Amino acid sequence: MEKNSSVENNKKTWSGRFNEPVSELVERYTASIGFDQRLAEYDIQGSLAHAQMLAAQGIISNGDWIAIEQGLHQIRDEIRNHQFIWSQALEDVHLNIEKRLTTLVGDAGKRLHTARSRNDQVATDIRLFLRASIDEIIALIKAMQSALLDLAEQHIHTVMPGFTHLQVAQPISFGHHLMAYFEMLKRDIGRLIDCRKRVNQLPLGAAALAGTSYPIKRELVAELLGFESVCENSLDAVSDRDFAIEFSACAALIMTHLSRMSEEFILWMNPSFGFIQLADRFCTGSSIMPQKKNPDVPELVRGKTGRINGHLVALLTLMKAQPLAYNKDNQEDKEPLFDTVDTLMDTLRIYADMLTGVRVNSKMMRQSALRGYATATDLADYLTKKGIPFRDAHEIVARTVQFSEQKGCDLSQLELSELKTFSAQIEADIFAVLTLEGSMQSRRHTGGTAPEQVQAAIHQARKWLS
Ligand code: ARG
Repeated sequence: MEKNSSVENNKKTWSGRFNEPVSELVERYTASIGFDQRLAEYDIQGSLAHAQMLAAQGIISNGDWIAIEQGLHQIRDEIRNHQFIWSQALEDVHLNIEKRLTTLVGDAGKRLHTARSRNDQVATDIRLFLRASIDEIIALIKAMQSALLDLAEQHIHTVMPGFTHLQVAQPISFGHHLMAYFEMLKRDIGRLIDCRKRVNQLPLGAAALAGTSYPIKRELVAELLGFESVCENSLDAVSDRDFAIEFSACAALIMTHLSRMSEEFILWMNPSFGFIQLADRFCTGSSIMPQKKNPDVPELVRGKTGRINGHLVALLTLMKAQPLAYNKDNQEDKEPLFDTVDTLMDTLRIYADMLTGVRVNSKMMRQSALRGYATATDLADYLTKKGIPFRDAHEIVARTVQFSEQKGCDLSQLELSELKTFSAQIEADIFAVLTLEGSMQSRRHTGGTAPEQVQAAIHQARKWLS
């Protein structure tokens, strides 16, 4: 980027009434070109639609529109080919492009900004950027979900201990566990689709804040840019960034879900669990401890979630004390938003790939479930079905577990005679209930962990995805 100081550079677009130029520091402090040049494609898209409408309404001539269109196309090429020279003195992406347009096509370029302000322009740019980002993020979530389904399908019958309080609770199918994340991501997509509706509204026409006296046709611009509708109030259109905040909240939730999964992967990779291995390409070694294989990628996902949550809070805080309408504070919306989009996209990409390389140690999962008396609830349910009130059954099973613990074996390894000392109601059919598989298979209602249900859930999920 050119860092011409304002003194030697051409005059500011807005400096007509100013007596002295801004200092180099103020210029640097107030400029957004360092980060908002990323919006260039959307800025050009918005300008093309605006200019086309101006011509259609007879506000500018057809000749001006043709010149503007050609000029903007050339600028788009220059930017794509990295030939465009960005200038800090020109503050932001909007003024950089407008200045170049005027250099290229003269007065027609100066007419582009008729009936428009940078306030409605920038709000439009961000909405276009966010709409495209949302579409890409939804596609990335779906790719990850697809990888999740492949892994879940391989492990419908793999038994693992389900946890509450991170203590062994009840045996579940590993496929069922993975499908929990599918559901979270499905809701995340629902939230993004909902958020997209509120992003997809056109601010242009609001001008600086009060609208414009030109006979504009906002509906035409909305149609050209694929917006569902126009923002209904000009002050609101230029000033609120609630759509960006809402998107950030969606992103924070997605990252939170991925962070939870990361936490589990990290735990499961610890040899005390030994449930899974991640492919080497997602791990690193230690420079001092040769035995180490560290789950860096999930750790970073967990860490980056903090950053995304931070961006959400930053945007909320940015907005909270702003009087109507536009304030320069809003220029600060971009960096958190861009970083949120970039971090989220990379995280989703890496996760889809990482899931394909998960190796499962089903023996360890099984052993862990056996060690934790995971079928104790099944024994209680068995007794309840024989007429013993659940609270009494609970008590009986607690004593049975204590006994197994002393004996150092699982409930299913006790003799029938031993079991009978705790309740005369226990018969030989108890052993079908006390096995991990028996317990799992008995939960065969919708949403349960029985393999046939997990299979059905995966089938439904595939249909939903396609
Ligand atoms: N760079 C500014 C932003 O990001 C563009 C809008 C500037 N408007 C203004 N009146 N100074 O918000």
